[in-house]
Amino acid sequence: MSDLIRIVEVGPRDGLQNEARNIPAAIKVALIERLVACGLTSVEATSFVSPKWVPQLADAAEVFSAIRRMPKVRYPVLVPNLQGLERALAVGVQEIAVFAAASEAFSQRNINASVTESLQRFAPVLDKAREAGVAVRGYVSTVLGCPYQGDVPLADVVRVAHHLHNAGCYEVSLGDTIGVGTPRKARAMVQAVANEIPIGALAVHFHDTWGQAIANIHACLDAGVRVVDSAVAGLGGCPYAAGASGNVATEDVVYLLDGLGLSHGVDLGALAETGEWISGQLGRESASKAGRALLARQTTRPH
Ligand code: HMG
Ligand code: MG
Repeated sequence: MSDLIRIVEVGPRDGLQNEARNIPAAIKVALIERLVACGLTSVEATSFVSPKWVPQLADAAEVFSAIRRMPKVRYPVLVPNLQGLERALAVGVQEIAVFAAASEAFSQRNINASVTESLQRFAPVLDKAREAGVAVRGYVSTVLGCPYQGDVPLADVVRVAHHLHNAGCYEVSLGDTIGVGTPRKARAMVQAVANEIPIGALAVHFHDTWGQAIANIHACLDAGVRVVDSAVAGLGGCPYAAGASGNVATEDVVYLLDGLGLSHGVDLGALAETGEWISGQLGRESASKAGRALLARQTTRPH
């Protein structure tokens, strides 16, 4: 099993889609560029969804166009439909992510479509992306529980993940949207999906609402997962998932990986400073325990 873990940083998208305060595009661009400077090679930059649904990311085209894009770095963006794809292609996006859910109730609230309708809606998006040479990632939300439906049958998670993989998504990210999962359940869920899809094509995406995200990631790494989504400073949350809190903090994931002897290519010190900086911009403390501990140690250490 490889020792190399790829972190997909989702803070600029999953984090900033959920902020009540207005964040200038220049801050978003600076965040993305700082994250890349920390060594992150996949940074989900923004979202070409309906601005009526997510006004926080109405500036997607402006933000994406302003990023100084670095070679060998991926800047995926969320796309819900053909309209979103057109907007993304117009500014030179090279990777998109489509997003479905395992739960009917969440699918309706998040994208105003049933699960089946959403998968049908993605078919022409995937076709057009393929024609344009654009890579497509797929998300399955609510894999370990739904805020409206409660339990989500594993078979539904497997079915939707399998569909996205067969439809051409090079990677399927399994999202615990409301952070209710625990390690045994997380591992069993990943193993059930990995019976249908090569585990190398899976990623995990944990929100940390119940404080289980790091334990869940550890269990999934043990099961063979090698791609982990996370957000600097633990930013994040979905405006259409009641009670969902931030993603697992990237700083905490990096600290875990260091402890496990797994490589990731990220500079933890620079990342902690970036987490501190964006938290300051948002007027709050960073939600990353590792980031805060590292910076506190640096300020209290005698010179
Ligand atoms: P709808 O209202 O059913 O669609 O929304 P519509 O086609 O009737 O469009 C409504 C209006 O939006 C129209 O404007 C469209 O033109 C416009 P009007 O005619 O009224 O002036 N519109 C668009 N504008 C710009 N870009 C577009 C676009 N599409 C429509 N792409 C729709 C359906 C899917 C569009 C909507 O529900 C939507 O945008 N939902 C996105 C919700 C969202 O972003 N949620 C958060 C991301 S998912 C997440 O966070 C989970 C994840 O992190 C994983 C996990 O944690 O589990 C990924
Ligand atoms: Mg999320």
